[in-house]
Amino acid sequence: MDFKPFKMAQYSARLSARLGLPLQNLHSSNPQPWTWDELSTLTNTDLAAWLTQAPLHYEAVQGHPQLRAMLCQHLYPSLSANDVVLTAGAQEGIFLVMQALLKPGDEVITFSPGFEPLAQVAADAGAQVKILPLVADQGWHIDWPALEQALSDAPRLLVINFPHNPTGAQLSEGDLRRLVNLCEQRGCWLLADEVFRGLEHAGTARLSNAAELYDRAISMGVVSKALALPGVRLGWLAAQSQSLRDQLLVVKSHVSICQSSLDAHLCQAIVPHMATLWRRKVAIIEQNKALLNQRLQEHPKFHWQAPQAAATAFIQYRGDDLERLLQKWAADWGWLVLPNAVFLTDEAGFRLTLGAPDMGPIYQQMFTP
Ligand SMILES: Cc1ncc(COP(=O)(O)O)c(C=O)c1O
Repeated sequence: MDFKPFKMAQYSARLSARLGLPLQNLHSSNPQPWTWDELSTLTNTDLAAWLTQAPLHYEAVQGHPQLRAMLCQHLYPSLSANDVVLTAGAQEGIFLVMQALLKPGDEVITFSPGFEPLAQVAADAGAQVKILPLVADQGWHIDWPALEQALSDAPRLLVINFPHNPTGAQLSEGDLRRLVNLCEQRGCWLLADEVFRGLEHAGTARLSNAAELYDRAISMGVVSKALALPGVRLGWLAAQSQSLRDQLLVVKSHVSICQSSLDAHLCQAIVPHMATLWRRKVAIIEQNKALLNQRLQEHPKFHWQAPQAAATAFIQYRGDDLERLLQKWAADWGWLVLPNAVFLTDEAGFRLTLGAPDMGPIYQQMFTP
């Protein structure tokens, strides 16, 4: 296995080292993390007391059974606890799926712009990764003829991520089902990275979970993104296939073995309140989206395909000096945003967060012509 560093981590580390400054993260894909006080209020639980009840033993490799059952109850009503494998974050989920499904030379299809590990971890496992550009006009939609052509080569795996990082694009339910049908016809596995599910903006429908639609689909979730708890390293994979789940557990027993029992215990207090936590974060995201929309309409060089879901926007740039501009922002203001290259696209632009409160003055300063 040949592990390559992620461009995203390299970009941030190099820029901050070159400037000798800690930079302010203005690109975060998760909404601002909750505080203990906020979480205790929203869940109506004394979380400090709750945590002292946590067992400190190894969890089962598949993960805490009641928590898996709870996830099914709230997210995958037609599945059962046995269909879910808990992971140490979604990043481990990506690793487990790629290791469990892929052999060197297998073909994998995914899209750009995109979250780099969804392509790179497959390549690390020896797969040939084909990256199809999403079409920016009219909202980063799938180029269906290109996808159908790519699927005709009988790939092993198609990887999707809607709501989408970095653009905030969302699929229609019809398009999700079209993807599932295409995979079904070709016998292709489908990894659906659904980590921003729950952060749909007003007027955007929540998609079905792929794992409930197709017996070769894997739905991936995590508490770091839509639930805004990135310090709690708990994610999950839901899949109908017993043989795949068995293989996921073999790989998991080579890495984390099991997730933290503290994290699993905490999540049992949080998961029943998912919908409330999502709604609170969407309210902040929508405020930021309205502010940003106003700024961008007045600016000659920046524009966007307005995001429909998730907590980031991809701001497109019409000039030819983006790199210089981002470096100047970092040097002058300490701002860190991530350029298009780390999302594997040549479409000039950068990812900007919608998930933090008090972004108004920053947007104002950033986008004043
Ligand atoms: C689309 C997507 N999937 C998976 C992950 C991994 O999540 P985590 O870092 O919480 O494991 C991220 C993190 O940014 C992401 O944006």
